[in-house]
Amino acid sequence: MAADRDRDAPYAYLERTFDWMADRYVDQTQRVSRGQYRDWMERLAREILDLDPAAVVDVGCGPGYLLSLLARRRPDLRLTGVDLSRRALRHLPPGVERFHGPLEAFARDHAGEYDVAVASFVLRDQADRSGFLADLGRLTGADGHLLILETARPQGLPGVGFDLYFHRWLPWWGRTRLAADWDRSQGPGPYEWLSASQKGWGRGRELNAWLRAGGWEIEQELWPDWAAVRLVRAAPAGRPRGAARPPMAER
Ligand SMILES: C[S@@+](CC[C@H](N)C(=O)[O-])C[C@H]1O[C@@H](n2cnc3c(N)ncnc32)[C@H](O)[C@@H]1O
Repeated sequence: MAADRDRDAPYAYLERTFDWMADRYVDQTQRVSRGQYRDWMERLAREILDLDPAAVVDVGCGPGYLLSLLARRRPDLRLTGVDLSRRALRHLPPGVERFHGPLEAFARDHAGEYDVAVASFVLRDQADRSGFLADLGRLTGADGHLLILETARPQGLPGVGFDLYFHRWLPWWGRTRLAADWDRSQGPGPYEWLSASQKGWGRGRELNAWLRAGGWEIEQELWPDWAAVRLVRAAPAGRPRGAARPPMAER
């Protein structure tokens, strides 16, 4: 069907890219983030565990660095990774549930099963961002929380350095070194893609509007304006503030 083909086209590129990158993703992302990736994941893991969940779904989990941190700290948690890349899913630790495919397919059969949904460096690449956020809402139901981590062009002077790094250095580094073995008949090189997709995203200024359209509202911005990433915690729109679900021990 034509509509399905159109919808699947961006997924096909992402699937190819992350299959190709799966085995080197964590090390390479650590380098590309100038040594910050693992700290970002630590911070994200802390934010998730502070919510005292029983079940967490990481959508676009890649090779599962975050899921490994969570599994190590809370072996009792139900953890699920969802990803377009089958090869990335092979890296998930034992005991973590996995689903190969797009979120929209997973969300159909798992309504309300999770306390926390996470999407880290995934939202930016979605053709329908509010639809993606609405699907995440299906997974968590009325009591859930959502954590979104994304790249963000910093405010002020640091933004100039960010542009030079992201849009000059990174595409060149990608083309000549990090992804020099990428077959260009498969589409743009992964770091050229990353640069272009970040350019269209900026600081994700419309995040509020996409979240609202997807049934969420921001509870808290967890990172300052000058940072190169944005971490946001959201709850279903209309839920009274502070009315988070009770700690697991009381359920
Ligand atoms: C940049 S990686 C991020 C991996 C990991 N979340 C992290 O923070 O390091 C993006 C991942 O999201 C997956 N992805 C993108 N869109 C998706 C979708 N609609 N459904 C499921 N997975 C998706 C890609 O296959 C890729 O593995």
